[in-house]
Amino acid sequence: MLSPHHPLVDGRTAAAPFIRAVRGDRPERTPVWFMRQAGRSLPEYRASRAGVDMLDACLTPELAAEITLQPVRRHGVDAAILFSDIVVPVLLAGVDVRIVPGRGPVLDSPIRTASDVLRLRPIDPEALAPIAEAVRLTVAELGSTPLIAFGGAPFTLASYLVEGGPSKDQLRARSLMYSDPHAWAALLNWCADVTGAFLRAQVEAGASAAQLFDSWIGSLARRDYQRRVAPHSKRALDALRGFEVPRIHFGVGSGEVIDLLPGLGVDAVGVDWRLPLDEASARLGGGVPLQGNIDPALLAAPWSVLQSHLEDVLDRGLAAPAHVANLGHGVPPDTDPEVLTRVVEFVHARG
Ligand code: CP3
Repeated sequence: MLSPHHPLVDGRTAAAPFIRAVRGDRPERTPVWFMRQAGRSLPEYRASRAGVDMLDACLTPELAAEITLQPVRRHGVDAAILFSDIVVPVLLAGVDVRIVPGRGPVLDSPIRTASDVLRLRPIDPEALAPIAEAVRLTVAELGSTPLIAFGGAPFTLASYLVEGGPSKDQLRARSLMYSDPHAWAALLNWCADVTGAFLRAQVEAGASAAQLFDSWIGSLARRDYQRRVAPHSKRALDALRGFEVPRIHFGVGSGEVIDLLPGLGVDAVGVDWRLPLDEASARLGGGVPLQGNIDPALLAAPWSVLQSHLEDVLDRGLAAPAHVANLGHGVPPDTDPEVLTRVVEFVHARG
């Protein structure tokens, strides 16, 4: 197998508008893709998933590759993102986690004490073989369209492990940070290594970029993020050391800490729908490529309302060196897929 540094492999996607933009070189046409573009908004996804458990689908390479490709075929987006989930490597490391439809990742035995943390075992890279295979199958079909590798940031993963499921404000997780700082640090290191191995397996198998998702970053005080979380996120990204792929950091509600994100060693920052891109760019000193920040709520609005929002987002995106259009969070499951295709056409036509 060719390594991702091989010029033939790198040359496959190096000129793609998405790759150029995240590297800070504004292409003629603004690239666009959607977080959660593979999912319940697509009838072909619902057909592929019929009777198949979410995590089983993620671990079946042919199915994961097919689902990854569906939104690329339908919408003509500028990048694919591997169909998987942030908890897949946690499962492959031996933790009993399942995904409950309509709810998210759930653990019957949450990780709440120092001895729970001590029982966590390192992930065996061999266990990631189905992920690597899904990436190889996907990349073979994608041609010059880049595939994005992704992983959950240690704080977001740890929140699920400690809470045992989705939670409103990650209170138990944030309490552990103070009630047992050593267990907290050990847990976040474990999460960083698991996500790091997951990212690395995808990039080794041919993904052209990587995105770290810190969905619950917005619940953290800035000082806690800085001291007790960010070093672990950096550790996860450091697993990609030696690979030339551009890295993106995305967080929901990250406005209070956004200026700290480039310090993790990322090339581009994903912005949710709250912070306008010109303001985000100012907080970042003007030199960082941005991704986002279409409000997912507006996908259900009349087209004229959505169109003026898109124009505003694209105009403000000019404040950054480059902009990848995307939503400020995932595609809502009940989104009309024709609206997503129209957004892609509009962004491309606007230049
Ligand atoms: O298209 C893509 O973006 C790639 C695939 C992807 C999934 N999950 C597939 C998925 C990615 C990148 C993720 C990341 C993920 N998973 C995050 C970070 C991004 C974010 O959305 O904040 C988080 C927090 C999770 C945890 C998770 N997994 C949640 C909250 C849910 C939703 C539960 C539900 O049913 O509403 C999942 C399940 C999940 N992950 C689905 C998909 C397509 C839905 C599964 C289904 O169809 O039943």
